[in-house]
Amino acid sequence: MKIFIVGSTGMLGSECRKVLSGDHEVFCPERKEVNIANWDVVIESLTEVSPDVILNCVGFTDMEASEKEDFDVRKINVEGPRNLAQASARFGCKMVHISCGHIFDGQKPIPQPYFEDDPPNPMSAYGKSKLESETAVRGNSPNYIIVRSMCLYGLTGKNLIKSILAKALARRSKVLQVPKDQFGAPTWSYRLALQLKELVENNGRGTYHATASGCCSRFQFVEHVLNRLEIKTPVEPCRLKDLKQTVDYPANCLLENRLAKKQGVDVMVDWKEDLDRFLEASGDELIKEARKR
Ligand SMILES: NC(=O)c1ccc[n+]([C@@H]2O[C@H](COP(=O)([O-])OP(=O)(O)OC[C@H]3O[C@@H](n4cnc5c(N)ncnc54)[C@H](OP(=O)(O)O)[C@@H]3O)[C@@H](O)[C@H]2O)c1
Repeated sequence: MKIFIVGSTGMLGSECRKVLSGDHEVFCPERKEVNIANWDVVIESLTEVSPDVILNCVGFTDMEASEKEDFDVRKINVEGPRNLAQASARFGCKMVHISCGHIFDGQKPIPQPYFEDDPPNPMSAYGKSKLESETAVRGNSPNYIIVRSMCLYGLTGKNLIKSILAKALARRSKVLQVPKDQFGAPTWSYRLALQLKELVENNGRGTYHATASGCCSRFQFVEHVLNRLEIKTPVEPCRLKDLKQTVDYPANCLLENRLAKKQGVDVMVDWKEDLDRFLEASGDELIKEARKR
């Protein structure tokens, strides 16, 4: 298949590029070549490539900045996906779009997960923009896959593990305060890329959840990462509200991959299994990068 990947310099997009290029012909324009918010540029580049699949890994993913930068968030998270969805209808190709669990309010009792058809109720500007992106894709592309994930980590770009290491290594003598009342299943971006490949190759359609299996609190996650990397910074449990953040982060970030399981295409594994593999392979590099900051 010819797969047109936008956002291929980001955390998820770079893994998709690697994973899909083995068996498919991939086209990975950078942002400076294809700004997805520009309809004319989108149409021009798709006319050239004529892909079977458009894979949208673009996102304005900084949740705190999303509360203030409404114009950019809408351009990147809503207008861009709408352009791609309309273009997919025009070119008769499949559109794959990535969304997230922030479209839910996170109020379900732990450990009940959110299912694909649970009613959305986003609490943040970022979550609202992702929900709008889903509506734009569903309303404009006759052949779409929407995949919602959560708590991604990887080697490229900013993410959870890098911010933990930056804090732990910058303030060795201090205690890290981490919430014990926020739960999720941290998911390796490489594994999510494998899941996207599986869905594309099996002609998936509709809205899927795709996160690692199992569940942990943010506190358990951070403790696990620091133990594995033998970083001695002490970690102290706190509550989400103690952190006085400017964004309402959901307490329950658990998604159940119900549709993929039902269709026999779920390739996700336990969060700890992938995390250990990732830290084993990339821990030294991450520590080196965090120390440079
Ligand atoms: N990170 C998470 O925990 C998480 C969880 C669930 C779902 N998601 C979703 O997964 C997707 C990918 O997230 P990520 O964390 O991999 O993102 P990321 O690392 O921040 O990468 C974003 C990518 O989008 C590109 N981009 C930004 N604006 C663009 C524009 N106007 N036109 C073309 N390209 C543009 C960036 O290019 P430059 O590098 O040139 O800026 C970069 O390649 C997003 O839809 C996000 O909402 C993320």
